[in-house]
Amino acid sequence: MSKPIYVLGGPNLNLLGTREPEIYGRETLDDIHARLKDLAGSTPIEARQTNYEGELVSWIQEASREGSGVILNAGAYTHTSVALHDALRACTVPVVEVHLSNPAAREAFRQVNYVSPAVKASIAGLGGYGYELALMAVRSLSGK
Ligand code: DQA
Repeated sequence: MSKPIYVLGGPNLNLLGTREPEIYGRETLDDIHARLKDLAGSTPIEARQTNYEGELVSWIQEASREGSGVILNAGAYTHTSVALHDALRACTVPVVEVHLSNPAAREAFRQVNYVSPAVKASIAGLGGYGYELALMAVRSLSGK
């Protein structure tokens, strides 16, 4: 069995589908995860979401030990978390950052990003499709 690709979601992403649909769309996180599992075929997908910063840190550490790559949407922690930045810098498998919306085109407080400088690549503004592109990118980066 090959090592899983971790798909990690941060705070409020559990509300996708009903949360500000004009910004984040009508798809739920379960919809996105199900599509990724279909697309990934025999590569296992370990999909998780949490509203807690420390849990995301622990999962990034776990993915570094036990996974082949990470797709990360850290939600609002993207803009605040030095702890996430440090965990990502220590992570030895490729990480691709995803955002449904394009934070660069939004409020000033979203222009600060602690994730981007610590990951391989970032995809933003493409809704759920960004996760599909991230899956292709992680697979190619990890040789899967
Ligand atoms: C988000 C963008 C963040 O700024 C925001 O805090 C989120 C969602 C996105 O996917 O567009 O929670 O990460």
